[in-house]
Amino acid sequence: MEMLKISKDWAWGLFYVVLLASASALALSKRQREAFLGRFNIRRRRASGASTPPRSFSPSNTADDKPPVTPALDHRTSFPPSRREALAVLAKSASVANRKILTGTEPSRDFLLNNPLPITRSYDLDNEVPKYTPTGFSTAEIKAMGDFPAYDVLSGVPLPQPYENFNPETALPRPYRPIRWAYHQTMSLTKMEPDWWLEVESTYVQRVNERKELYRLHGKMVLDYLPGSELVCKELMEMCLQFYCARYPSYFSLSTDNSTFHNRLLDSTTDIKSMHPLLVLLNNVPEDFAIVLRNEKDGMYYFRAGTVCSSLGWNVSTKIGLQLKDIHTTVADYKEKMSFSMDRYFTKMPTTMPIQRGSWSLEIDKPLFMPPGHPHEALRSQQKPDLKKEDCYLRVDWQTLRRLPLSAGVVFNFKALFTPVVEFRDEPYVPALVLKNLKEGKKNLMEYKGTWHVEHIIIPLMEEYAREQVENGVVKVEDGKEWEVTTLEESPYFSGWEEKWHRQQGF
Ligand SMILES: *[C@@H]1O[C@H](CO)[C@@H](O)[C@H](O)[C@H]1NC(C)=O
Ligand SMILES: *[C@@H]1O[C@H](CO)[C@@H](O)[C@H](O)[C@H]1NC(C)=O
Repeated sequence: MEMLKISKDWAWGLFYVVLLASASALALSKRQREAFLGRFNIRRRRASGASTPPRSFSPSNTADDKPPVTPALDHRTSFPPSRREALAVLAKSASVANRKILTGTEPSRDFLLNNPLPITRSYDLDNEVPKYTPTGFSTAEIKAMGDFPAYDVLSGVPLPQPYENFNPETALPRPYRPIRWAYHQTMSLTKMEPDWWLEVESTYVQRVNERKELYRLHGKMVLDYLPGSELVCKELMEMCLQFYCARYPSYFSLSTDNSTFHNRLLDSTTDIKSMHPLLVLLNNVPEDFAIVLRNEKDGMYYFRAGTVCSSLGWNVSTKIGLQLKDIHTTVADYKEKMSFSMDRYFTKMPTTMPIQRGSWSLEIDKPLFMPPGHPHEALRSQQKPDLKKEDCYLRVDWQTLRRLPLSAGVVFNFKALFTPVVEFRDEPYVPALVLKNLKEGKKNLMEYKGTWHVEHIIIPLMEEYAREQVENGVVKVEDGKEWEVTTLEESPYFSGWEEKWHRQQGF
């Protein structure tokens, strides 16, 4: 069925939607923004028409589209911004011998080009001729930094603040409602909030166990790594553990020599060097990670490692080893129209500018991983007459994208969060927004989301909630006119969300 086919690659499709949407959200100057939009072959005037299709999903398919004006970038000789400035800071606390290495001279561009760390082979820190990562660090420098270097200094993204009064038994994810109308008015993407890169909440223990079980059952389909990804996997694992220790100091800690990770939520201790870094993550961090690395031969980015348990209809083994443009095969128009811009974005993305966004869909129950033949597939092809509203959920995939400083790998991190749709009842304007999308959303967009199978329940329910909110004054009626449905100022939340969130968590 067509609908299913379209939704198959949606998580990866979002990868590009993220980038597409990033233009205004990153608070670029007008000129930069024009240049950025130019790269995506989107002319601003198209955004003004009321009937404009949602930009994110149908970027440019009018007949008069011209090829992008930006001249081609030579990816092989283009690198992301160097992070070598961090070395001077790291050198301050290093031993005398290491300080000498960390304060060495900067390699020339040619040297970088001629001595790259290969994407397909494991790195050797004892190489006689040092090899360089795309962000400009040599194997000798990486060795001198040791394990768990200060990634906040290296990346330019601060460590999170400790989360005071946090209770893991009752913690809820923030109530993301990234529901927009109309799409062209408000971009959905913002700078990542450093405190919220990874989020622990009440389902933590259950999710870790669920993910471990999925790995036991499906192996490489949910977790895999190719040769050459050793450095980026170690770097990601160390960054995640550092983040957890800083954010939730009462629940996570590293031994003084950084060899063991203590997890008080699971009551477990991990000998970090005893297993692959992605397994350390699988056992402790219930989030999905897809890692792409720069290939020194063509400067393009390839999916080289990852652990992904919340994919619907695709899995790690379907995509591993592929270049970005080949990952997105089912995203309409991707190859012709988008891959140019996306490759460019990845080539240049700095470590200092992680980004975040949410996308949403509606589901029956809470399907996390959906291999072919999963019973959930059948649910999507019919409108079950006896479907109960209590069994309908908003699924939000909350996503971040960041470049890691040492390996220069780009990590796409996402987690699926489920909220019963009956929660919308007391969330001002949310029912009306959902309704607007379901009734008037562009056909291709809604098919992409795959909402048809629940619409017979959710449309009448949202109509009821929206009416109720007008009746009890939650939704304001001004000059006798009802509120015109539009993306909320509080997006991706809603008015009063903090009060509700604190009340529900009890802290
Ligand atoms: C352990 O890691 C921390 C950062 O997480 C670092 O500051 C410290 O120097 C490391 N200790 C050792 C012995 O490597
Ligand atoms: C993973 O993807 C492959 C290739 O598309 C497919 O053959 C396999 O059945 C999938 N398995 C799961 C568990 O999703």
